[in-house]
Amino acid sequence: MKDQIPAIEAEALARISAATDERALEDARVAVLGKKGSLTLAAAGMKDVPKEEKGAVGQLLNAARASIAAALEAKQSALQEIADRAALAGIDTTLPARELAIGGLHPLTLIRDEAIAILRRMGFALADGPEIEDEFHCFDALNTPADHPARNEKDTFYFDSGKLLRTHTSSVQVRTMESAKPPIRIIAPGSAYRRDEIDATHLSVFNQLEGLYVASDVSLPDLKGTLEFFLQELFGSNTEVRFRPHFFPFTEPSFEIDVKLTVKGQEPRWIEVAGCGMVDPAVFEAINKSRKDQAFDPETTTGFAFGMGLDRLAMIRWGIRDIRLLIENDIRFLKQF
Ligand code: PHE
Repeated sequence: MKDQIPAIEAEALARISAATDERALEDARVAVLGKKGSLTLAAAGMKDVPKEEKGAVGQLLNAARASIAAALEAKQSALQEIADRAALAGIDTTLPARELAIGGLHPLTLIRDEAIAILRRMGFALADGPEIEDEFHCFDALNTPADHPARNEKDTFYFDSGKLLRTHTSSVQVRTMESAKPPIRIIAPGSAYRRDEIDATHLSVFNQLEGLYVASDVSLPDLKGTLEFFLQELFGSNTEVRFRPHFFPFTEPSFEIDVKLTVKGQEPRWIEVAGCGMVDPAVFEAINKSRKDQAFDPETTTGFAFGMGLDRLAMIRWGIRDIRLLIENDIRFLKQF
């Protein structure tokens, strides 16, 4: 037995090393380690080995088994490598890879992020609110009476429940004032919905960015300075900005803001980009009523608010003639940004 084991081992190792494919290797394994394999049979002979030799023979057996297992494993990976190489034969792995088309950011995302970055530098924090709103947050709290045209079913999308798709993100300003106290300085970017006839400058959903600054000493010059700075950061420091008196139910006085657009080969023209104004005390009173406190005392609380269409800003920035391009996802258009 003592001589038999090294002989079995040597023969097995020779067969393993001679194997040229997986099949031959498996045969070699079965021949030595299988149920009727030579080493298995030899191990079965242990019961006849005299007691005093059992230890030594056992060690021999274990060593043989270990060296055969190691040889099998090494041969297995060597064969695998050969197979891998064969599979790659004829493929030039040094060729440069095919180019993957990498996407870019949508122009609305670009202009929104830029606008947010400028306003954050001025201390405005981001605020958020639901797109499905109730009449209180969209209209009543904003001093907009029941007979105001914006509340008409022709202008606003209503649900059967009486809720509606917010017509502006001013509702986020209301929600913010309900839950926080002055000073408040927030911006609320998001979608707004109106039943507009769809054409080159109108969609039924557009993207707004509204802002609100409420404290004890906010003045009209603060509003003017903030928005002038913002628009000149966005469109260039030479951009001309003008404030035109206007009316909004929730601000007094109110303005519309135009920027002068100069496109090569065209007469310069004024384009409306935003609405703004000083928060009407009636809004603070409505907020107090809803909060059930006097956190926004109309005598001492002042603030300005503004709202602009990001779609419009993007159209001005890149000279986009038709707003519908912003939602059509035509690669030929989007590729340019
Ligand atoms: N909410 C107004 C609109 O959607 C914009 C606006 C916001 C005007 C704040 C004044 C103050 O048209």
